[in-house]
Amino acid sequence: MDKFVIDGPTKLNGEILIAGAKNSALAILPATLLVDGVCTISNLPHISDIQNICEILEKLGSKISWDSSNSITIDNHNISYKNMPIDLTSKFRASYYLIGALLGRCKKVQVGMPGGCKLGPRPIDQHIKGFELLGATVDSSQGKVSAYADKLVGNNIYLDVVSVGATINIMIAAVLAEGTTIIENAAKEPHVVDVATFLNSLGADIRGAGTDVIKINGVKSLHGNTYTIVPDQIEAGTFMLAAVASKGNILIKNCVPEHLDSLISKIIEIGGNVEIFDDSIRVSCDHQTTKTTINTLPYPGFPTDLQAPIGTVLALSEGTSIISESIWDSRFQYTSELNKLGAKITVQGKSAIIEGVEKFYSAPVFASDLRAGAALIIAAICAEGTTEIYNIHHIDRGYEDIEGKFSKLGAKIRRVKGDN
Ligand code: UD1
Repeated sequence: MDKFVIDGPTKLNGEILIAGAKNSALAILPATLLVDGVCTISNLPHISDIQNICEILEKLGSKISWDSSNSITIDNHNISYKNMPIDLTSKFRASYYLIGALLGRCKKVQVGMPGGCKLGPRPIDQHIKGFELLGATVDSSQGKVSAYADKLVGNNIYLDVVSVGATINIMIAAVLAEGTTIIENAAKEPHVVDVATFLNSLGADIRGAGTDVIKINGVKSLHGNTYTIVPDQIEAGTFMLAAVASKGNILIKNCVPEHLDSLISKIIEIGGNVEIFDDSIRVSCDHQTTKTTINTLPYPGFPTDLQAPIGTVLALSEGTSIISESIWDSRFQYTSELNKLGAKITVQGKSAIIEGVEKFYSAPVFASDLRAGAALIIAAICAEGTTEIYNIHHIDRGYEDIEGKFSKLGAKIRRVKGDN
């Protein structure tokens, strides 16, 4: 397994270009299955989860050609749900979008129980409830999810929890259903809006994405189109926090500043500087930041996916900060790794109590999940000495060329292949 070796401390300086949103791309690629035609999707992040979904789509019959490393043309004229590679679908979370897409197109589907980062229990009961209300019969047992329907018919679906995945999945399934579907208590994340915008560009009739009520008027068919994925809000946030933690100055280009409002407010509150432009943000900091409290919430609240990276910043901030994680049960695994670097964090139930320290020192550390890995890279860049980070396959799932981007900002980071 590869590892990162990072020499620190370094103040990060310069500019970087944000890739397309992972969580949007991972829904839009399966959603192309609704089209008996050709779509071109650009601004795809170059990450292993995208390679995984493309491999699955090819097994289902998609003809994919890469126009560049970030753009594909995908021809879905000949799709068969029967060729689903169950072992591959169990590898990552977003494979659940294949259920909505193939129910919509073929009325039948079977996938492996979706995998992904181990953040605690990750039920899909709200997805299943939605499919059932649209008329599908769903069975989830023995590590698989199977669903079929004679036809899908629109319905009113109230989500008992605000779920990004369930909102998008039900939206995808409902696009070709008969009649009108209304999703209440829907998630409002930027990628929910991006998937709705993509589907509407193909001829779907979805209104209200970005609010908590989404109305989908079913249409008979969709047509192919070209579409550019929205910039990745979480990648942008990760580099903003890296600028603050390292006392650097980074211009983050190709981002949507309003998607980052909650983070911008927190960075200013703890003493960082933020300049906002049309599609870029400059973040800088030249002194020790101060404590705050963070409570992760569905959008537009503070994103759970930036909880670990801001944990690193607060571990280096003056005073005692408290982070409460309200979305996932096991999202504090990174704190014990940060403590190896000198942080003083204790976890009590759903909260982490962080006593700020002035410095980190190097140590070998392990990434427990994708965003935990990003938090550790930021910490290692700030730490004195040489830090080794293991389990970096988690990081490769969701960050495009992360070592290249951090190197460009001055970090001394290198990937060491295999067991060397
Ligand atoms: C997506 C993101 C993930 C992010 C999360 C929250 C992808 C591939 N992943 O995950 O990076 O951390 O949103 O912003 O887009 N829940 C249920 N039943 C369900 C579905 C969810 O109880 O059927 C609960 C979950 O346990 C969790 C909360 O709802 O507590 C939010 O989950 P959800 O928004 O669905 O997360 P994902 O879509 O899996």
